[in-house]
Amino acid sequence: YQHWYNPTHPLVVDCGGTILVYEGEMERAQGQLEAEMQNLEEEKNRVIEEAFIRAESEMKAVHDNLAGVRMNLLTLQPALRTLTCDYNCLKRQVQDFPFMLEKAITEAKQEICQVIGEVSSANQELLRKYKREMNLRKKCHNELVRMKGNIRVFCRVRPVCRGEHDSAENMVSFDPDDDALLYLSNKVKLMTFELDKVFHPQATQEEVFQEVQSLVTSCIDGFNVCIFAYGQTGSGKTYTMEGVAKDPGINQRALRLLFSEVTEKAPDWDFKITVSMVEIYNETLRNLLGDNQGEKLDIKMNPDGSGHLYVPGLTEFTVQSPEDINRVFELGHMNRATACTNLNEHSSRSHALLIITVAGVNSSTGHRTQGKLNLVDLAGSERIAKSGAEGSRLREAQCINKSLSALGDVINALRSRHSHVPFRNSRLTYLLSDSLSGDSKTLMMVQVSPLVSNMSESVCSLKFAQRVRTIELGNATRRQWENSSTSSSPTHDSAEVTYNTHAPWRE
Ligand SMILES: Nc1ncnc2c1ncn2[C@@H]1O[C@H](COP(=O)(O)OP(=O)(O)O)[C@@H](O)[C@H]1O
Ligand SMILES: [Mg+2]
Repeated sequence: YQHWYNPTHPLVVDCGGTILVYEGEMERAQGQLEAEMQNLEEEKNRVIEEAFIRAESEMKAVHDNLAGVRMNLLTLQPALRTLTCDYNCLKRQVQDFPFMLEKAITEAKQEICQVIGEVSSANQELLRKYKREMNLRKKCHNELVRMKGNIRVFCRVRPVCRGEHDSAENMVSFDPDDDALLYLSNKVKLMTFELDKVFHPQATQEEVFQEVQSLVTSCIDGFNVCIFAYGQTGSGKTYTMEGVAKDPGINQRALRLLFSEVTEKAPDWDFKITVSMVEIYNETLRNLLGDNQGEKLDIKMNPDGSGHLYVPGLTEFTVQSPEDINRVFELGHMNRATACTNLNEHSSRSHALLIITVAGVNSSTGHRTQGKLNLVDLAGSERIAKSGAEGSRLREAQCINKSLSALGDVINALRSRHSHVPFRNSRLTYLLSDSLSGDSKTLMMVQVSPLVSNMSESVCSLKFAQRVRTIELGNATRRQWENSSTSSSPTHDSAEVTYNTHAPWRE
């Protein structure tokens, strides 16, 4: 190498120059590189610092989050505990529920049974008390009726018949709780009427008869009884008293009942039932069971000294069997119909009386008893327009007016305990005088039509009923005497003959 190396050799000198160039370049490149390195270093540090800062803030956020979550966790934990606790509790309750339910049901059952038992015994007690009160009430009522003199007033409202066209207004209405009240209403006012009993339009003949049968049978015990059907024509008087063939009224049912009752009393008692039928038209009496229809009957004092009235020539038909009853009614009806051209019209202007006498003698004691049952289908009570009627129609109207007024007056006098009772003011009251006075029982069946067109007549009838109802007849006593006829004082002797032209009964 020493040999070859000669720093003065041109080649070496040349190379040295080049080396120097290169060395310069290298130094420069190194400088550049170092600057570059420095830059890169700085860049790196900056990036690292940025990343660090970012990481730090992210870390902080995560920390914050974590703290929040921790916080949440802290609050959730107790909630979870209570939830778990609740859940366990509920679970236990659910498990226990069927047992509790069963127990509760058993207890409730026992309680219910106990209460039912108590209620039922309370009910029985109430029922017992109610029955006692009912009996007491009945007794009181009977006592009241006795004190009031045995005048009872019933009302029967007939149904609207087929073919009748009436406005659908409810003119007549009833009290659901009190069968003694009847309401009449027009467009302006409501009127209340209190009677002893009100029969609905649906009431059957049987139901009506059930209410009167004790009255009917009391004549076996020696009472005199009058049952009147009062009301305007077409209000159902004849339906109630006579009825129709398939469904007879009070007349036939009464006679049948009396017949069966006295038959039951045999042989201890020997009873005789006699029947008369009378029609009063224009103040004359007609014997409906007699042969001579033209004959006019008179009312006379009985010559036997008993003080009773009697009608000479009046046919008395003795009823011995149920068949006899039918025969009597047929005959009476036939006789009534043959004498007039229009039975309906005629019957509305005359009074029809069925007089049943029940006389009995006790076979061992000789006790005698006599009672009379008068069943009266009165003439129509409608007011006749004064201007419209003349001639025979006017006379009929006057006669009806007179006798119905007399009936009202007689009852009024009896109620007021007048010493003079104007029985003689009409044939009707005179004939019935001993059945209306002191020792008798009276039932007024006031018939009412439900039609609006009959409103004013219905009001009149019910006003009549109200007045009759407040009447006192004195105590009812038995007509009974031993062997001889020493009966109670005659009633007609005190009869006062005063013609009463004023008719307050038919205002
Ligand atoms: N309660 C009732 N049930 C059914 N129809 C009745 C009733 N009351 C009356 N009628 C009928 O009404 C009409 C008039 O009755 P009726 O008894 O002749 O009246 P009055 O004798 O008062 O003139 C008759 O056709 C009768 O059959
Ligand atoms: Mg009639």
